Parts: sequence; C-alpha cells; structure tokens
Amino acid sequence: MKHHFSRRVAGAKRSAIRELLKLTEQPDIISFGGGLPAPETFPHEEMAEIAAEIIREKYANVLQYGLTEGSKTLRQAICDWLKPQGVEATIHDLLVTTASQQALDLLCKAFIDPGDVIFCGLPTYLGAVQAFNLFEVDKIGVQLENDGMDLDELEERIAEAKDAGKTLKAIYVIPDFQNPSGITMSLEKRKRLLEIARREDLLIFEDNPYGHLRFAGEPMPSICSMDDEGRVLMMLTFSKTLCAGLRLAVMLARGDLMDALVRAKQPTDLCTSKLTQHLAAQYILRYGLENHLEEIRPIYKEKRNAMIAALERYMPEDAGISWTEPEGGLFVWMRLPEGIDTTDMLQDAIEHKVAYVPGASAYVDGGGQHTIRLSYSLVSPETIDEGIRRLAEVVKATIEAKQVAAGTR
Ligand SMILES: Cc1ncc(COP(=O)(O)O)c(C=O)c1O
Repeated sequence: MKHHFSRRVAGAKRSAIRELLKLTEQPDIISFGGGLPAPETFPHEEMAEIAAEIIREKYANVLQYGLTEGSKTLRQAICDWLKPQGVEATIHDLLVTTASQQALDLLCKAFIDPGDVIFCGLPTYLGAVQAFNLFEVDKIGVQLENDGMDLDELEERIAEAKDAGKTLKAIYVIPDFQNPSGITMSLEKRKRLLEIARREDLLIFEDNPYGHLRFAGEPMPSICSMDDEGRVLMMLTFSKTLCAGLRLAVMLARGDLMDALVRAKQPTDLCTSKLTQHLAAQYILRYGLENHLEEIRPIYKEKRNAMIAALERYMPEDAGISWTEPEGGLFVWMRLPEGIDTTDMLQDAIEHKVAYVPGASAYVDGGGQHTIRLSYSLVSPETIDEGIRRLAEVVKATIEAKQVAAGTR
C-alpha cells in the first residue's frame, strides 16, 4: 500500500524527549523529567462525589453533547474568578478547550498560514513548538533573561523579519514560572511587550498554566489584564490548578478573534467533554478554586525548597553551574558549562538512576545543549535530595571527563 500521509504529518516528529523519558519510567529511577502535576494535589474525593451525583441525577445533560463555546456555568464561574485578578470578561469572551494543548492547536488553525512568524522564548514549551511545526510556523527564538524575554532582541528580530518580507503574526509567551525555565517576566517587560505588540500589530498568545501556583514573591498581573484592545489571547488550563485528566482549559479571546477560534474548534471536536466541564464547574462552585489553590501551593513550595537546598548541597561550586529559583510552578532550570551536552549526559544519568529533560528540545534555534529542566512536582522532598545527589555525581564526572579530554586537567 502506498503511504497516504499528509505533507504536514509526514514532516512532524515525535518528541525525542518524550520517547527518551519512557526509559525513565522504571521504578528505581528518580525522574525529574515529566512536567506532570503532583497527584496529591488532585481533589479526588470531592471529584468522586460530584461525578457520582451529576452522572446519576443530571445524566441527560452532562452525558450529552454541548456548546462548542463550552458550558455556560463553567465560563461564568471562570469570569467571576478572573474579575478580582483584573480581567474583565463575559462568558462570550471565553472558549472552553480540551486543555491548553488544544488551544495552541486552535490558535494555529485560526490565525496561521504556512510561513507566518511566531516569536517565542529561547527556551520555550516543547508542546507549543510541536503545534507550531504542524502548521509550518516560522518560529523565531528570542533569548530569555532572568526577568523574561530580552525585548531589545525581540525588537531586532522583528525588524529583521520585516526586512525579510515575512508575515509577522504573534508573540508566544509563558510569563509566569515559564516551562521550562521557571522564569517570570517582570511587570516592566509585560507592559513593554504589550506596547511592542501594539506598535507592530501582533497578537500575544499568553499561555498561563502556572501563574496561579505562586508560592513566593508578589503576584504579577497577567498581560491580558493590561490589554484594552483584545490582542492578547490568554490560555488558562486546569491541568495544574485542578486535575490534568479533566483535559480542560479556557481561552480568553474577544470579538472576531473568538469567532475564528469557535470556527476552528467546531470541526476539531465539536465540543469539549461536557462531563468534565460540569465536574470542574461544580467543584469550583462548591469548594472555590482559590481555596483549592491555597491548599496546593505549599505542596509545590516544599518540593521547590527541597530541590534548591539539594542543588546547593551537592552541586560542585565554581564549576560554572547555575540554576533558577522559581517563585511558583513546577520547574528549575539548570545551566552547565558550555560544551557539556546534556542529551549525551542523560544516558549516564539513567545509569545512575536519575533522569531529567535535556534543555536542547526547548530551543527552536538548535541551542541549549548545556541546559537541563528539572521538575520537582512528582518526587517527594526526601527523594528529591537523593535524586539531586545522584545527578551531582553525574555532572561532576561529566565536567571532569571534559576537562581531561581538553587537556585542562
Ligand atoms: C506552557 C504550557 N502550555 C501548555 C501545556 C499543555 O497543558 P494542557 O494541555 O494539559 O492544558 C503545558 C503542559 O505542561 C505547558 O507547560
């Protein structure tokens, strides 16, 4: 039989990292690889009760098809939750999506033609890059600094892309506790980013899975909350704030942009599962999302603290190693000396029964070989200590081997 693959899918690769991380699922490996939320944060008893009740008593509604836009009850509950955060929205500004990965897909379907430019961080979220690739986006990377994207560099890249006659569409950002770097964009940069987007007439795709998992420092307004033109499309997933298995997110978009997204979603899945939407809505109405967030933030804080303490304890000093100290979210980002290839090093790490995500997968420009993403969410504080001890052994051995090979030792 001849292969009938579309050009689009024939060119799409599976994530090499996700394939590699399958190796780390053995129980004796301490894995800092997966970006999954901590299961102890899932309100499973409450969910079980609500599920039993609504399936028994409201089955004609919750087991039925729903509106493409999503459940009105859920959207209203989200509008009410967003209002004190400075985001004024009605249910008509919210689209429920099958989690934010679908939102990324819909953004491309609605706004991208092959070759259109999206600017994104170096590094950025791999799943977004996979969605962009499928739609033949021209991805232009911009370095991240400790307070978010380097906006001088963004302006340079914009000028270059314009000179080259490209069609510029959007800037993709994860302003809070970014995946993979854990970096948060400063308020000044949020404002300036919006100004740049205005001046250049670009959309901003603001992906905000972690912003509500802040456990240190001062809350930061979303870029969306500062936008009075409707050029910021914000994605808010419930994966990390409630349960990833619900596969639920909302996307905030206004007017014609919303209409385009609804038209893109209809042929994709008609509607997001009504059952999970009602589970989430009832949970929020009965228990409150803010109350739940208050309970789960300390869980992540304890794990983050354990990881930072272990890095300080075990990583060699003066070896050119640095890491971020996130004020929320799930990830620490580590930089090893230039020249160390963390994809190669992963084999050694797996032999030492510890795993991580090599950073190169998060760079659209082929860089980042010497970087690592460490997720603390799935590991207990004690196990984090042991895992970082093992990782430090591997890092020390790799640096020494490199020095020997270079004749500097
Ligand atoms: C930045 C970012 N965006 C989107 C997603 C996708 O999440 P979901 O599809 O579960 O909402 C993730 C998941 O890790 C993420 O880190």
